[in-house]
Amino acid sequence: MLFSATRLTARGGARWAALAALLSAAALLPAAAHAAASALVTPVDTKPASSAGPKPVYSDAAALGKLIFFDASLSASGKMSCASCHSPSHAYGPPDGLAAQLGGADMHQQGTRAVPSLRYILNRTPIWSHAQAASLSERLSETDNAPVGGFAWDGRFNSLHDQATFPLFNPGEMANKDPAAVLAKLEQAPYAGRFKEVFGQNIFVDRTKAFAQAMYAIERFELEDPSFHPYTSKYDYYLDGKVQLTAQELRGQKLFDNPAGGNCASCHIDQKGVDGSHPLFTDFNFQALGVPRNPELKANADPKYFDMGLCGPLRTDQSKEKINCGLFRSVSLRNTATRHVFFHNGRFHTLKDALRFYVQRDTNPAKWYPKDAHGKVDKFNDLPVALRGNVDTTDEPLTRKAGERPVWSERDIDDVAAFLTTLNDDYDLKSKPLK
Ligand code: HEC
Ligand code: HEC
Repeated sequence: MLFSATRLTARGGARWAALAALLSAAALLPAAAHAAASALVTPVDTKPASSAGPKPVYSDAAALGKLIFFDASLSASGKMSCASCHSPSHAYGPPDGLAAQLGGADMHQQGTRAVPSLRYILNRTPIWSHAQAASLSERLSETDNAPVGGFAWDGRFNSLHDQATFPLFNPGEMANKDPAAVLAKLEQAPYAGRFKEVFGQNIFVDRTKAFAQAMYAIERFELEDPSFHPYTSKYDYYLDGKVQLTAQELRGQKLFDNPAGGNCASCHIDQKGVDGSHPLFTDFNFQALGVPRNPELKANADPKYFDMGLCGPLRTDQSKEKINCGLFRSVSLRNTATRHVFFHNGRFHTLKDALRFYVQRDTNPAKWYPKDAHGKVDKFNDLPVALRGNVDTTDEPLTRKAGERPVWSERDIDDVAAFLTTLNDDYDLKSKPLK
């Protein structure tokens, strides 16, 4: 197909363009994207090359945002806060292994996507961009740029204050009817007095402004609170020369890096940035990996329903770009080894199954996909048949044929899992000094 061929040529170049953008974004983004908001605050979000430097400022708005983030009274059920899904003791990811969380006024509505971790990426996510070639010939000349950036699995939010409004009003999550409903609760909150002290005694008179300030407060909390970017993993200490990785962990990293093997690091970057910043294990690019349909999601009971990421249904501005159907944002693998739910649709529940999927998707498709009515393996069954050509079959390790040997053995998978476990925060450095 012409279009998949053009995408193929575009992809490699686009990845590097995105990487370059990312490296500069790491230094520039917080200041640029939040210039208006952060005139007085300079969050130190990236792990600096040395520990010297100004102490991060913690604004009053951030302190208030923290109270809002943990306030379950702001939901229709009275039982759900941001932290119910983004649990601070689970790297701000889901507290359990549910493919999607239950919410809504009755707490029985199931979402359609797995809860991502909020750690590390918030200050460093580039804004959504999709520099498109103007013509087909331009597309062919590798100047086309793959989509990159934005918040959520489909990159549909460009700021954290916009993003925060989604769960507050989503009928399956915190399920508020409108901003007025949120403000009515906020005015009754124990911290309402503090809200007025920070944003002005008459803040609740201007409803639009009051709501905007509440969203701004959440954003400041997410950007400023050190708990969102602790950099306390074994891998961080290793990069700082404070601890060694074991032979198994190093072997796992080699497998993870090898461009002709796992090739994981081409999307989940594991090297320091040019400015010395520690890697986030994502390039914020979008890919269609062909993750199998997840019957645990109630929405999937409808055979006509497909979550196609960039092209909808949650995201609506890209639905004409059929070439982007099925693409989801690459996520950080920091703390991924603590999760019990993997990929946008929560299809896998162990890290090793997620790894096996990558290396056995093509060598043994019958293991991952059900059979269709004709007894044929229904590969890439979470996309309409006509759009399955969008699934990545050109990046290693997604290039094999059925029956070939997977790039990784079970032992390799153990080693990569051991390496990824070094990305878990709260590594106890003191009890394990440098050998
Ligand atoms: C019912 C569970 C639930 C609740 C409650 C919830 N979220 Fe989320 N959150 C999710 C899911 C699921 C996603 C992925 C959404 C998507 O891709 O459409 C997400 C995505 C996000 C993201 C984007 C992360 C990224 O990787 O780009 C941010 C930021 C976020 N949530 C913040 C919040 C805030 C702030 C609140 C409270 C106002 C909140 N969430 C409440 C489930 C929840
Ligand atoms: C071509 C880019 C690309 C390559 C190569 C790649 N990934 Fe991914 N990875 C992604 C994208 C995109 C997602 C999210 C896809 C989705 O949910 O549909 C993802 C998701 C994941 C997840 C799930 C994380 C979570 O929190 O749900 C894990 C684990 C993972 N990748 C590990 C790996 C490993 C290990 C390799 C090497 C074998 C690898 N990836 C290679 C792009 C890539």
